[in-house]
Amino acid sequence: MIITIDGPAAAGKGTLARQLAKKYGLAYFDTGMVYRAVGLELLNNGLSPDDTAAASKVAAGLTFARMIALSAQPGFRSAAGGQAASKVAAMPKVREYLLKMQQDFARTPKLPTGEKTAGVVYDGRDTGTVICPQADVKFFITASPEVRAMRRHKEYLQKEMPSVYEDVLAQTKERDLRDSSRTSAPLRPAEDAVIIDTSDMDITEVFAEACRIIDDKFLK
Ligand code: DC
Repeated sequence: MIITIDGPAAAGKGTLARQLAKKYGLAYFDTGMVYRAVGLELLNNGLSPDDTAAASKVAAGLTFARMIALSAQPGFRSAAGGQAASKVAAMPKVREYLLKMQQDFARTPKLPTGEKTAGVVYDGRDTGTVICPQADVKFFITASPEVRAMRRHKEYLQKEMPSVYEDVLAQTKERDLRDSSRTSAPLRPAEDAVIIDTSDMDITEVFAEACRIIDDKFLK
């Protein structure tokens, strides 16, 4: 079974994806990691995330193992890391180089422990449209920019990272604009995606709704 979950930043995709992966015994691939890895590799080497040639070179050489290693670094989930990721994600060459790694994962999906699984939950922006158009169930999870910025802001504070709500809101809007207006794989729901607006829902409600949709499809 392949499930894709796309949508804007901080809409609750990651939490939902992890919960679904656990419930249905599937592997989980957070595809934002590939762009965060390229962005952080550039920043670590004193290179600009606007440098297309450098970003393409890093993307061409990125391995799954290197991505996992970079994800353990503190800058990986930082606001600067997110901005860098969003910039490199808008580069068609970068996307092209990172496509195979993301698609290959569905061929032999496994847990971080190495245990094989019968499928995968993808989470990202283009997983239902580009990475895995043949997915069995596709979700598009969204929420208002204000709600999403508040969730991210609280997350930063919980991790004891400095955060100002107004700045997070401005960054959220800036990233939304870049993610949805880029020419290569812009953020949009797949035609056959189920759209869930989580602005007024908590994660328990979102999870229950997603399970109902999956079970309706597979258990009836
Ligand atoms: O979900 P995230 O915040 O970790 O994603 C980081 C950036 O990567 C985000 O600005 C959009 C981009 N991204 C993308 O373009 N395509 C994906 N499938 C996943 C993420």
